[in-house]
Amino acid sequence: MGAGPAGLLLGHLLHLEGIDSTILESRSREYVIERVRAGVLEPGTVATLTAAGVGVRLKREGMHHGGIQMAFGGRRHRVDFEELTGGRSITVYGQNEIVRDLIDAHKAAGRAPFFECRQVRIADFDSAPRIEFEHNGEEYQVACDFIAGCDGSHGICRPSIPAACVRVYAREFPFAWLGILAEAPPSSAELVYALHERGFALFSMRSPSITRLYLQCAPGEDASRWNDCRIWDELTTRLETADGWRPNRGRIVQKNVAGMRSMVVAPMRCGRLFLAGDAAHIVPPAGAKGLNLAVADVRLLAEALAAYYRAGRSHLLDSYSDRCLARVWRAQRFSYWMTSTLHRAPDGSEFDYHRQLAELEYATTSRAAMTSLAENYVGWE
Ligand code: APR
Ligand code: PHB
Repeated sequence: MGAGPAGLLLGHLLHLEGIDSTILESRSREYVIERVRAGVLEPGTVATLTAAGVGVRLKREGMHHGGIQMAFGGRRHRVDFEELTGGRSITVYGQNEIVRDLIDAHKAAGRAPFFECRQVRIADFDSAPRIEFEHNGEEYQVACDFIAGCDGSHGICRPSIPAACVRVYAREFPFAWLGILAEAPPSSAELVYALHERGFALFSMRSPSITRLYLQCAPGEDASRWNDCRIWDELTTRLETADGWRPNRGRIVQKNVAGMRSMVVAPMRCGRLFLAGDAAHIVPPAGAKGLNLAVADVRLLAEALAAYYRAGRSHLLDSYSDRCLARVWRAQRFSYWMTSTLHRAPDGSEFDYHRQLAELEYATTSRAAMTSLAENYVGWE
């Protein structure tokens, strides 16, 4: 269920194992390809995509980043991932480009997902799972061995699980991000995470001519209240450093506000229904972990299903949830640290702000603290 990165990659990995699957997606093909989402890939994610044969364009167009910059107190401080983690680095490549590459791979294998499915329902996933849906005005029923709930944070799979079978751990943050995509060449070769007295800002990119930037704003902020001039002025104020560095300006081609929350569903399984990606967990975006967790989940799920069909062994299906959740909670811890260190809470005090500055000072000067930041950011083997 779902043609985001989790569902598409799972379907592709299963196909490589000779296991048949059907992907159902409620949105259109154009919508899922054009939706602007995350963009930072851990080396493990790049390795998984490359091994699955969908890394050709990623290798050509992905931007290699050996570290990140943290800006506060008018200065930028570099954290050198490669030096601190024995050569590990990150790759900047849009999530929607991964989705495009995966849809192309499915098409090439003659098995395109069903887009624009309506009235999707799942049933009997504790015994003989069934999915019912409408497509182009026709009613369909799929009988299957397993359902993979890869339908994101607003999907139907998780809410279909009886409340007694799972626990949901959740936390809201009292701020949101206003994100923009701009036709402006990046003025820094690396991401810049900034804490300013007016709040958080992030400088990122998608290509040598497109920048992606974010500003902390109030939850539920109306993006239309932010005209281009106001956005650029606020980004410049929060990001610019005393050495004269600031983001290049350009035409804003996309603008959106996204709320911020953390959520974990445990276990990530109910009978023959397995949850993966955003359907099972949400992380606040400051740690850049959402997409990487989705890829890590489906790699384990594909492995577990392959062992089941190849050797009739269900031990990896049984340990799937625990193995995923160990990584998920690590990612929650790190994402929480990045979020609380880099944002100004509406009820936060001047004391908190100065404590956060001291936290950043430590995180960018102590080798032990920089190593901790670096190894968490590049992800775990
Ligand atoms: N039936 C079919 N498809 C559905 C349904 C439904 N009832 N409900 C939702 N979907 C689809 C959505 O339209 C979406 O395309 O499921 C897909 C889920 O994809 P994503 O939201 O991209 O989730 P996932 O594949 O887990 O990828 C996680 O997305 O939000 C980012 O930071 C996150 O990068 C991470 C990634
Ligand atoms: C992005 O480029 O969209 C991006 C980068 C880093 C983050 C979040 C989003 O932490």
